[in-house]
Amino acid sequence: MLNSIGLQNPGVEYFMENDLPWLRKFDTKIIVNACGSTIEDYVELAKVLNTLDIDGVELNLSCPNVKAGCMAFGTTYEGVKEVTSQVRKVLDKPLIVKLTPNVTDITEPAKGAEAAGADGVSLINTLLGMSIDIEKQRPVLANNMGGLSGPAVKPVAVRMVYQVAKAVKIPVLGLRRNSYRK
Ligand SMILES: Cc1cc2nc3c(=O)[nH]c(=O)nc-3n(C[C@H](O)[C@H](O)[C@H](O)COP(=O)(O)O)c2cc1C
Repeated sequence: MLNSIGLQNPGVEYFMENDLPWLRKFDTKIIVNACGSTIEDYVELAKVLNTLDIDGVELNLSCPNVKAGCMAFGTTYEGVKEVTSQVRKVLDKPLIVKLTPNVTDITEPAKGAEAAGADGVSLINTLLGMSIDIEKQRPVLANNMGGLSGPAVKPVAVRMVYQVAKAVKIPVLGLRRNSYRK
């Protein structure tokens, strides 16, 4: 799949009042995926999430569809370390950092997360991709590029999980949707 959805969602206040009570009916852990456009956004969001009845937070530093945020932080050791350490100061709950695969060396951002006190890293997010409609001679997506996911990216994900697992001591979560199991 090549998607360009961005991070549309109703926001943390709506989540608190509507989604969380519903989710709490299930006997499962709740980990909230959080994203912002600036470090201040991440910190403000983390302060709110810290007060909620949730089991952990996953920082999305890796979304390719948001122009100003996410991937800008997620591609370097220093960028990941900076945003993660700022969030770590205000968040008492388990903190997972989700990594972007759109880098040359995936171990660098992983080490930045570890150095900043993350409890674990998860990977991968989507790979930056592009598709062209040859009849229209235009990119298919309005945003030109989007995030590629699905069975095609699995070998990349497995390779990166392998590399990261050798590079850090914190837990590494390899992400794969169940529907791809067969
Ligand atoms: C439509 C769509 C929306 C997504 N939204 C998010 C998101 O909000 N936050 C995030 O961290 N990852 C998001 N992702 C990335 C997925 O969580 C996952 O990391 C990625 O699709 C690679 O795994 P897969 O190949 O098993 O789908 C999204 C993926 C898709 C296809």
